[in-house]
Amino acid sequence: MSQRLRTIGCVLTTLLVLPLAAATAPSTGSVATPMAVAKGKCHKGRVALTFDDGPQPHTTKPLLRVLRRKHVRATFFVQGYRAKAYPGTIRRISKAGHRIGNHTWNHPDLTNLSKRQIHSQLARTNRAIRHAGAPRPTLMRPPYGATDRQVAHVARNMNMHEVLWNVDTRNWSGVSVDAIVHGALAGISRGDNIILLHDGVATSNRTVKAVPRIIRGIRKRGYCVGRLNRRGEVHKPYHRLKEKHWSTTGTAR
Ligand code: NI
Repeated sequence: MSQRLRTIGCVLTTLLVLPLAAATAPSTGSVATPMAVAKGKCHKGRVALTFDDGPQPHTTKPLLRVLRRKHVRATFFVQGYRAKAYPGTIRRISKAGHRIGNHTWNHPDLTNLSKRQIHSQLARTNRAIRHAGAPRPTLMRPPYGATDRQVAHVARNMNMHEVLWNVDTRNWSGVSVDAIVHGALAGISRGDNIILLHDGVATSNRTVKAVPRIIRGIRKRGYCVGRLNRRGEVHKPYHRLKEKHWSTTGTAR
C-alpha cells in the first residue's frame, strides 16, 4: 500500500525475530521422520513462501499455476476487502491446498488502532474468507510487520498466530525479477525461513516470474519448500503432491 509505510515495514523487518525454533520439531501425522529430514534434501532447513496483499486475480491465478507445476504449497495473507471482491480466487487458492492467512481488512498500521478496531480488521477479514468458502484463518500477518503488545493480545484472543518473516525480497518496490530472486536466495539461512513476497501489488507479475527460480534455488541449496502449519511454523511439504524434494527414504511419495 503506501510507500512510506512499506518502508517502515522493511525497517521493522530487520528488528523482527521469528519464533522459528519450535518449527523444527516434527509434528504429528508427518509422513517423513525427523531422521529422513536430517538425511534428506532438507538438510539445511525449510523455507515457506508467503504472498501478501492479494488476492489479485491477474497475478494470483498465474502464481497458482506456477506453484502447482513446482509442487509447492504456500501461504497467502490476503486483505479482507479483496477476499470479499474475489471470493472465487480465494476458493481457488484454498482448493489448491495453500493456506490462507489474514492480512487485515484494508492494510492499516494496527499499532495506530484501538483494540476494538484491530478486532474488527481481523474479524471482518475472517468472515470474508469463510464466506468465500475457505477455512477460518489461524494465522495473521500485521501490515508492515507493525505489531505491539495490544495487537498480539487481540490476535491471541481470537486464537490467531502472528506470522512475520525473516527474508524480505522487497518485491513490492518495483525491483527487477533478478533482484527478487537474489533477495530471496541471499536471505535464507540454516534452519527454518519465511520469505515475504507479494501477489497483490502493482509489480507482482515480476514475482510470478521470479518464483520458479526462487524454488529451484532453494532446493539446490539443500532446503525444502514447505507450507506454514496452523501455528505458523514452517511445515513439511504436502505429501499428496508427490513432493520429490522432501525425503530420500521414499516415505513421502
Ligand atoms: Ni501487506
